[in-house]
Amino acid sequence: MGLEIIGLCKSFKDQETSGIIQVLNDIHYHVHDGRFVSIVGPSGCGKTTLLRVIAGLEEPSSGNLLLDGRGISYHADRIGLVFQEYALFPWRTTLENVELGLEIMEVPKKERRAAAMDYIRSFGLKDFENRYPHELSGGMQQRVAIARTLITDPRVVLMDEPFGSLDSQTRNNLQSFLLALWQKQKVTVIFVTHNVDEAVFLSDEVLVFSKRPAKLISRFFITAPRPRERTSTECNRMRKMILDTLETETMDPLLTEK
Ligand SMILES: Nc1ncnc2c1ncn2[C@@H]1O[C@H](COP(=O)(O)OP(=O)(O)OP(=O)(O)O)[C@@H](O)[C@H]1O
Ligand SMILES: [Mg+2]
Repeated sequence: MGLEIIGLCKSFKDQETSGIIQVLNDIHYHVHDGRFVSIVGPSGCGKTTLLRVIAGLEEPSSGNLLLDGRGISYHADRIGLVFQEYALFPWRTTLENVELGLEIMEVPKKERRAAAMDYIRSFGLKDFENRYPHELSGGMQQRVAIARTLITDPRVVLMDEPFGSLDSQTRNNLQSFLLALWQKQKVTVIFVTHNVDEAVFLSDEVLVFSKRPAKLISRFFITAPRPRERTSTECNRMRKMILDTLETETMDPLLTEK
């Protein structure tokens, strides 16, 4: 059970040269239900593209995606997105943003309001339900974005650098908050980040992608017990292994040639 990525390739047509840009190169991976998997890799390698393909926002050029052994139905299978570019709707209040997913699912107004208020309370956003996004801090806005996604009870949540623009204290708080939710809702998470500390703190597995076209080059299992100590020997050891792998991948061959 879970999400299977089978031989996934994705290319784009280069608008300027009319050439082909190969972005994903034969990605194979099985994300088991309830796992927290992070992806790290050089900038521009294809991480966002992979999430966009899984989300159904881009067609794969070849390969397959299966959920529980069958094709994904983007109507019935809820795939949640927390992408930086999917900002909150500025004209909707916190409450209206959080209830949006349920509105799309045609849940009656009274019911969705009650569910949204429950989320708002448990996300520490009480008293901000009638505020607009510009009246909230960055950390609060991300909590609203996560609430908006999790309220629909998704099978898989795809997160693309969701905490990238936050200061480190807010980021650490939101990581712990996300972990608590993940453990409670038992949702499968695929989380893209540039921050290896974050990946090690959060994940069951960390995948390292190569430079574009992205290929899965290493897979690290993080077995440190939860709740984790960020600076524990095990976390430090994993962080070093992942950073070394990334460094080798991004090394400029001209600088390393003998
Ligand atoms: N619609 C598109 N048309 C053409 N090229 C695209 C398109 N979308 C992405 N690309 C190219 O695919 C490559 C991978 O982009 P992608 O955004 O997936 O990288 P990324 O790993 O998420 O990078 P970053 O870490 O900087 O966010 C880039 O070279 C990008 O220019
Ligand atoms: Mg990206």
